Order: sequence, then structure tokens, then C-alpha cells
Amino acid sequence: MAERYFREIAVFGLGFVGLPLSLCFTLAGCRVIGVDVDAGLVEEINRGITHHQERYRGIPIQDILRRELARGSFTATTDPRKALAEVQDIVVTVGLPVVNGEPDAGLLAACLKSIAAGLKRGDLVLVRSTLVPGMMRRLVKPLLEESGLRAGEDFYLGYAPERIAEGRAFEEFVTMPVVVSGIDEESLAETAALLKVITRAELVPASSFEAAEVAKLIENISRDVNIAVVNELTAVTQALGINIFEVVRLANTHKRVKLLQPGPGVGGYCLPNAFYYLLPAARAAGVDLELMPAARRVNDAMPRRVADTVLRLLPVPPAQARVAVLGLAMKDFSSDSRQSPALKVVEHLQAAGVTVLAFDPAVPKQHPFQVDTFEKAVDGAHGAVILARQEGMPVEDPAVFARFLDPANPFVVDTKNVCGKCASAPVLINVVSL
Ligand SMILES: NC(=O)c1ccc[n+]([C@@H]2O[C@H](COP(=O)([O-])OP(=O)(O)OC[C@H]3O[C@@H](n4cnc5c(N)ncnc54)[C@H](O)[C@@H]3O)[C@@H](O)[C@H]2O)c1
Repeated sequence: MAERYFREIAVFGLGFVGLPLSLCFTLAGCRVIGVDVDAGLVEEINRGITHHQERYRGIPIQDILRRELARGSFTATTDPRKALAEVQDIVVTVGLPVVNGEPDAGLLAACLKSIAAGLKRGDLVLVRSTLVPGMMRRLVKPLLEESGLRAGEDFYLGYAPERIAEGRAFEEFVTMPVVVSGIDEESLAETAALLKVITRAELVPASSFEAAEVAKLIENISRDVNIAVVNELTAVTQALGINIFEVVRLANTHKRVKLLQPGPGVGGYCLPNAFYYLLPAARAAGVDLELMPAARRVNDAMPRRVADTVLRLLPVPPAQARVAVLGLAMKDFSSDSRQSPALKVVEHLQAAGVTVLAFDPAVPKQHPFQVDTFEKAVDGAHGAVILARQEGMPVEDPAVFARFLDPANPFVVDTKNVCGKCASAPVLINVVSL
């Protein structure tokens, strides 16, 4: 007997949000057709392959994907029309890349046009992407209405910006409160009903698309600014010879203080981009932003500060030096190296003439300087710099570095405060003490 599904959903965009979101819906009893323009990605996913570092109750996403494919509850396609013909619920997770400081809505617009071409009366379109304020009303709605159908009359239109952190997607789809908005009350109710299929957390209604759009941006920007405050402080703590991680830990014992952790910069798709999404709305309103761009500058300057520290520690001229870079992901325990500060550190080191060998077991190999083992990166290097933590990367034990690094003045620049529990190790630990 054919399996009965709770709902039939098309998820547009099968990236860091779309793939785990699709599988979260299938785990809740829905059938999902994932749609992506990247034919290679679709083919890989349909073979059960993904590089994402997600787990649901300890089960790796790869196992979940293969099981749901085998069960027939999930499939991926490049054909939006075919998918749209089979579903009533459409979820959009296609985002806006930032190019030279400007958000580019081209991918999202193309996605919406492909949906408009197959939209049916009674469908729900739920957008989960992070947007420039005003886009739901001025871009999403008119593009979908090219279908000839009217939002709020012929189809439901909702916006619920996604809040998950990569690496915790399955857990946070269920436990993270969601801000929900709609073109009208019915759309908001339909959106909430779809989200309730997967979430047990509070659904927080917003009075407008715009309120939800701006709330999402300030969530990300506030974290960017918070990290910038701590990153800026690292220059002072370094000069004072104290450890910034200890300072943050001490300060956070105050009940109303919540400092985030410092690091080699702020990367990925979400945090750095949010400011550039807000900027057009601020410009249009004639508002000069001061604090937020300053925070961006502080965080953008971190990779150079890290690279300069490495260069100062080299026992030989940069052109004769080799440095091991450990961790290329934009944050700990992630496979995402988009806009990663680690890649910028590598760029600065290479520009100075240093030979770099980098290891990150989670980030798929895409750069000539990547090697496939920790040992290949560190063996004989003059020093190492730790930029992101990963499972299977033994950066905690200073003795490991001592064994592999060139014995003449070896050093470890540890931006994560993970190596260096052993003060007597013959390597310089936490020299950046970020
Ligand atoms: N990554 C996160 O942790 C996270 C968290 C919260 C919110 N967000 C937001 O969610 C959105 C998606 O982020 P992501 O990290 O999953 O991005 P992603 O780049 O990993 O995935 C987007 C996918 O959309 C596909 N795509 C592009 N054009 C398409 C089209 N016309 N039709 C179908 N698919 C198309 C791309 O090929 C890609 O696979 C963004 O707005 C982002 O800001 C991301």
C-alpha cells in the first residue's frame, strides 16, 4: 500500500537550510520534493551524498538522507514545474549573495519566477530567506503574481525568516522560536500551520512582513557587533598579556552581560551579510549608520591581524616559510567555508610569500593548498595557526605540534583557545590569545 503523507511540500534551494529543512519535514511525515538549479548538487543528493555536518538525535544527515530517499519521502530535482504540480506547500530558501557590498536578488528572483510559472490556486508560498527590508512586498509578491494569481486572494504568502545555526539545524527547526508573518491573517495562519508540522517552539506573530524582515537582520547584526566589541578588545588584552577568553568568561558571570567569543573574523552567509541587507533600507531612509559599519570593519580586519601575528613569529623570511593552517570553515564544526575568515588569513600569508598547507576534515577539498591529513599540514612546518575546530583535528594537544613542527622556534597561533592547556609544551601557545 502506498504511504500516506501528512503534507506534500516543495523546498526551493537545497543548501545549508533547504536540505536539512526538507528532511525535517519528511521525518515529520511529509513528502518533500527538493528543487535546486545546481544539477550536480541534485545528482549528488539523489545519490545520498551531502557534505553537511548535521545530526538528528546522533544520526548523521547522510544516513537520514539515504533512508528518506529509499523510503520515497524525499527526492531532489532541477525541474520546478514537475515539483509544483505535485505539492500545495512551497518553501523558499534561496538567499541573496552580497557582491561588492550590494545584495544580489538575481537568484531569488529567478527562483520566484520559476515558482510563478507553476503556482496554483490555494498554494502556500513560505519564504525563509533573509531579505532586504521591503522585499517581501516589493519583490516577492509581484514576481509571484506574474502567475496571474493574487497573493492573499488566490494563494497564501508567508514570511518566516530562518534562524538555525549550521550544525544544529535539526534540533533548532524544532526548538527555536520562529517569527511568522503573512500578507493577511489567513496567510499567517497557513504559514503557522505548516511550521507547526516541525516545530514545538513558540511561533511569534509579526504585524507585518517588514517587522519580520528587520527583526531577522538585527538578530544577525547584533551578534556581529557583539563579536566586534570582543575582537577589538583582543588588541588590548594581548598588549596587557591577559587572555581574552578568560575576560569574556569572567564578564559573562554578570547576569545582564552576554559577550560572544572572539575569533579570527566573522564569516559565512548570515552574520556579515545582514548589515549589507539593512544598508539599502537605511540609505533609502536617509539614515547614516555608524556603529554597524564600524563593527564590520573591526571584524573584517581580524584575518589580517592574525596573519600579521603569524608573520611576526616566523623564524625564517616569509618566502622560505611554511605554515600549517588548521580549520578553513567559517566557524567551528561546520563544513561551510563561504566568506570564511580562514581563507582570508591564507590569502594574506600567501601574499607575503609564505607556503601554506591547510587541513580541515569537514570542508570539501576545493583549494590547491588543502591537504587531506593533519600530519601533511603540520609536518616540518615552521608554525601553525588554528582558525576553526573540527572533529578529527587534534589541535588540543600541544605535544602533537611539538612532534611535527620544525624544531627551530616552532609556534602555534591559537585563535580558538583550544591548544595550550600544557604550559611547559615546547611550542608557543595562544600567542594571539584571541
Ligand atoms: N546557512 C545558515 O545557517 C542560515 C541560517 C539562517 C538563515 N539563512 C538564510 O537562508 C537562506 C539560504 O541559506 P543557505 O545557507 O541554505 O544558502 P545555500 O547557498 O547553501 O543554498 C541555497 C541553494 O539555492 C539554490 N538555488 C539558487 N537559485 C535557485 C533557484 N532559482 N531555484 C532553486 N534553487 C536555487 C543554490 O544552488 C543553493 O543550493 C539565505 O537567505 C540565508 O541568509 C541561512
